[in-house]
Formats: sequence, C-alpha cells, structure tokens
Amino acid sequence: MEFLDLPPLLGASGCVRLPGSKSISNRTLLLAALAEGETDIRDLLASDDVERMLEALQALGVEWSRDGESDNYRVRGVGGPFPVKAADLFLGNAGTAFRPLTAALALSGGEYRLSGVARMHERPIGDLVDGLREIGADITYVGNEGFPPLHIRPAAIRPGGVVRVRGDVSSQFLTALLMALPLTGVETTVEVVGELISKPYIGITLDLMARFGVVVAREGWQRFTVPGNARYRSPGVVFVEGDASSASYFLAAGAIGGGPLRVEGVGRSSIQGDVRFAEALEQLGARIEMGDNWIEARAPDGGRLKAFDLDLNHIPDAAMTLAVAALFADGPCRLRNIASWRVKETDRIAAMANELRKVGATVEEGPDYLCVTAPARLVPAAIDTYDDHRMAMCFSLAALGDCRVRINDPKCVNKTFPTYFERFAEVTRPVPVIAIDGPSASGKGTVAARVAEALGYHCLDSGSLYRLVALAAMRAGVSFDDEPDVAVLAGSLPARFAEGRVFLGDEDVTEAIRTEEASVGASKVAVLAEVRAALLDRQREYRHAPGLVAEGRDIGSVIFPDAGTKFFLTATAQARAERRYKQLIEKGMAANMESLLKDLQDRDARDAARPVAPLQKLPDAVLLDTTEMDVEQAVGFVLDRVRS
Ligand code: DC
Repeated sequence: MEFLDLPPLLGASGCVRLPGSKSISNRTLLLAALAEGETDIRDLLASDDVERMLEALQALGVEWSRDGESDNYRVRGVGGPFPVKAADLFLGNAGTAFRPLTAALALSGGEYRLSGVARMHERPIGDLVDGLREIGADITYVGNEGFPPLHIRPAAIRPGGVVRVRGDVSSQFLTALLMALPLTGVETTVEVVGELISKPYIGITLDLMARFGVVVAREGWQRFTVPGNARYRSPGVVFVEGDASSASYFLAAGAIGGGPLRVEGVGRSSIQGDVRFAEALEQLGARIEMGDNWIEARAPDGGRLKAFDLDLNHIPDAAMTLAVAALFADGPCRLRNIASWRVKETDRIAAMANELRKVGATVEEGPDYLCVTAPARLVPAAIDTYDDHRMAMCFSLAALGDCRVRINDPKCVNKTFPTYFERFAEVTRPVPVIAIDGPSASGKGTVAARVAEALGYHCLDSGSLYRLVALAAMRAGVSFDDEPDVAVLAGSLPARFAEGRVFLGDEDVTEAIRTEEASVGASKVAVLAEVRAALLDRQREYRHAPGLVAEGRDIGSVIFPDAGTKFFLTATAQARAERRYKQLIEKGMAANMESLLKDLQDRDARDAARPVAPLQKLPDAVLLDTTEMDVEQAVGFVLDRVRS
C-alpha cells in the first residue's frame, strides 16, 4: 500500500491558486459537445473524472483538442444528439460523467453500454432511469436493479408534459435530465419528487445551461421547464472557476493554522454553492475576507474554533472538511442532514467516523448525521482513504494538530486534485527538526542538548534508545545478535526520559547505559534492521511544537529525511578518545587510552559498514569538525547556521 507521511504542522498561511471546478468542468464539456459551434474552455480541471468525460466524448464522435500542455481546450460541438450511435463507455467513479451522459445518451437514439469501477456500480441511479423511462427511454440494468452498469437502446422518445424525478438521493439526477432535455426540442417540465438535496448544484447547472443559450424556467426548487425548440449554442469562451470544494481544505487550514491563507479562483461572484463553506467557517469563529475571485481565512481571535451544530445539506462535499475541522473545535460538533454522504465515492459517514476515531475523536454516527468531539490531544494514525479523494484531503488537516498523519493511497486525490499534497506542503509549516549525526564521542549529545535548550526545542538522544535496547537484552539474557528477540524488546521498550535521567521501567539506568559493555552492545544491536524498524516511530514521536533537535547516526537520512537543517558532527578518533579518557578519569574511573581508541575505531567501522542506515555524511548535511573546537564554539556554529 502506498502512503504519504505528513509531519506535524505548526501552521498554515500563504496563497493557493485552485484547480478548476470539477462540477463546472464536466458540465461545460458536455454542454459544449451538444452545442452548435466551437467552445474554448479555459482552465479546465486536469483530473481523473474530467479525463473520463473527455474520453467518453471522443468515443461519441465529439472532436476536441488541447492547447499544448495547458488547461485550455477547444470542443467542436455536434449541435444535437451524439453522432456515434454505438459505444461502450467506461466512466471510472466519475458521477459527474456517468449521470449526465446516461441522460444524453438515452435521448441520442443509439445503443450504448455504460460502466464504471466497482464502487460506481454500488451508487444508485434508479431515480434517473425512472425519469428517463417516463419519456420512453429504453434503459436496462446489466447487473443489479437500480445501479450501473447500464445498457441503453434506441427508443421512441415521447418528450413533453411532465417528467417526475426524485431529488432526495442525488441532485445529479435532476442535473442530468435538465441538461439532456434540450435534445428533444419539445417543452418539457421536470417535477422534483421529495425534498431536493444539494440545491446549489442545480444552480450551477442552470447557470451553465443559460450560458449555452437554454434558459430554464423554475418554480422554486420543485418545477423546472425546459423550453421547446431550445438549442445549445456555444458562448465562444467559457472560463472554469476554481473548485470551491477544493478551496475548503485550504480555508480550513487557514482557520486552524493561523492564516492568513488565501485561495484564488473562487470568490463572491462564484456560481458554486460550496463557496458558502466560508460562511460555515465564519460561524466557527474563523475570520473570512472575500473578493470577487478570492477568499481568505484566518484563525479566530481567540485562536480555537468554536463548536458547531449545522445543517449542511447545501454543501455536502465541503461539509466533510468541517468534520475534520471539528477536531480543532472547543466542544462537541454536530453535522446534520448529510444522508447523501452514504452514496458518494464511499459511505462517507461511516468512513469519516472510523478515521476520526483513529486520531482519538469520540464520534457518534447516525443515518444522516455525525457528532464529533475532539480529543485533548490528537493521536498519530494511518488514515485509510477508501478510494475517496475527499477523505485524503480532509485528513491532511489533522497534521495541524501537532500530530503525524499517514495518508494511505494518497493518489486517490487524482480524482479531482492531482497536485493537492504539493499545494498543501507549500502553505503549511512543518514542526522544524535539526538533525545532528556523527560518530561516537564526537560531542553531538552535548551540542544537541545545548542547542535544544537555546531554542526551547525538544531533544532526542537516539543513541540512548539503542543503549537501552542493549541493556534490556543483557538483563533478559538475550544475545545481541538474536534479531527477532531483540526486536521484540525494542518494540516494547519501557523507556522514559525525565529531567536529564533515563529510566527503564522504574529503574534509573542513566549510568548503566553508558558502560563500555552497553556501548558495545548498542553498536551491535544497532546493525539489526528489525531493531531499527521497531525504533522508527518511537523516534518520530519526539517531533512536536515548537521543534526538535535529534542526534544519532541516521537522523537526517532515515528518521527525519525532511529535517530543515542537518549537521554531521565529527572529530578525529584520537581527539574523541582523548575526550572520553578525560571524562572517565574525572569521574574517578579507570581508563586506558589505547583500548578506548581501539573500541571507538571498531564502533565507527561497525556503524559505517553496516548495510542498514550506515553512518555517513549526507550531501545536504553541514560538516562540523570539532577536533579543534570547544563545546561553546560548536554550539555557536550550529545556532548560527540554524538561524540563518
Ligand atoms: O550516539 P551513541 O554513542 O550513544 O550511540 C550508541 C550506539 O547506537 C552507537 O554504536 C550507534 C548506535 N546508533 C545508531 O545506530 N543510530 C542512531 N541513530 C543512534 C545510535
């Protein structure tokens, strides 16, 4: 399973240019295809769902071209039903392609098969098929009754009068019917049965149809009349707005992580209902500013978001972002009237509840609501994404809780926002890490501790973990080369660091891990790959606000390869042995210069020659040779570099 590890984040601010709106992109493509004339579409979204639509249109005889590698396309409309009268279309999990194409093809007088991925075949389409059958369409279910795949055959269409369609499962059924009806040339009224959900999406449909010359008369959200002799005509150029649902992640990041965070591409004049997400955020206390084509979010004056209880039926997609924002609210939060989540890319109510619980939230899940209570502190977790782009994008926000987050299958964002994680990284600030690697007795422990103190950061002496493992193995009578058993000890090490002392369970072992026997043992257990793997997460757990100084052998290469500053601290073996000799004599212990030097050289050789995480100076590490330096000078050198 592929995954992406997000580091704990300190905050978010900056500016993001949004990718094109999925809803507008796929609607515009279909309308341009059915219209008379050529349409230039600017800033089309580049994503899987739009690819499926483009492929389908090509298969149906619609010519389109792309301007180089840009997001600008030209579509040559066919001015009526599709010219290709037989086709087999695979539409992935793109609801915005599947539903409208079903309706347009049912009225195109050909024989078509439409299918998608397994999840698409679990998403209902019966209400749309029922509506189309009312006007004579011949559609059969190839698999389960009420669900794709579908088989469409030529049929005598009897438009006119009133077609009834249910509006309480997905608003896309109504969108699909409305966009296809002008193909019949006869005035037809669509009557919505049941409460229409996600109304703003119908707003997008009507707005775009009007731009293509078909004005639908509407009585509330109940009756919609498509005029007779309506024909789509290209408006020439269509600019696709930025995606308002995608904006929600960045606006929430600004509201949680300080801000100001600005998104460009949507704003006050947007036709997308999801811009109203900004209003919802405002109710949580976030400070929002808006221009015609931008929105900016900042954290509330008091810092923390306010608990909320909101009906979110009008913004079902962006509402998912609020479920994760609830992790940062000052009390229990309720998201109401979101039943449609259950028939989206996955059962989003169940998926959201599962994953929120993993990061420590208390979640109550109902048929059409979620109640989320934040934990006192977020728990690092591996988040499953259910092949749902929004799950992946939403949970990136959890990292703003000073918490490591692993996103499984991060590529699922390709559905609507292939570059999401790159953009997210550009506007977020990870908790900084200063990595100090180097050989034994090079003084890196002392330097790291002093640098951490000067900066107010946490400090990790990773060598002491290997020393603790060696000591635990000695105590348990486990041989240093018994990899599985030593790894078990490493995985369950009851290590504790407090006030400069090191504990194994309740025992203070600060001195015991510094004996030569423990030192040699440490360098032996450190060659074992399973031991290193067992200590990986434990080391990463030290990364917390405001920052971390970590020292060892593989901090910059394996544990924190994304560390902002890396040092390789060393000194000649002779100088290191002399320092160690002095330390031992000062403590009144017996010491032999020759054997100390040999021990050091042996350990250096073992650390550098081992196949896993060998000691090495990385190309991006700053070399600091302390042979001729005292501690003050070394600390000064590191601090200067970090500050610059
Ligand atoms: O830094 P130190 O001398 O306390 O380390 C003790 C041993 O642990 C050393 O021989 C190498 C090993 N070690 C390691 O392999 N990786 C680290 N990140 C830290 C220490």
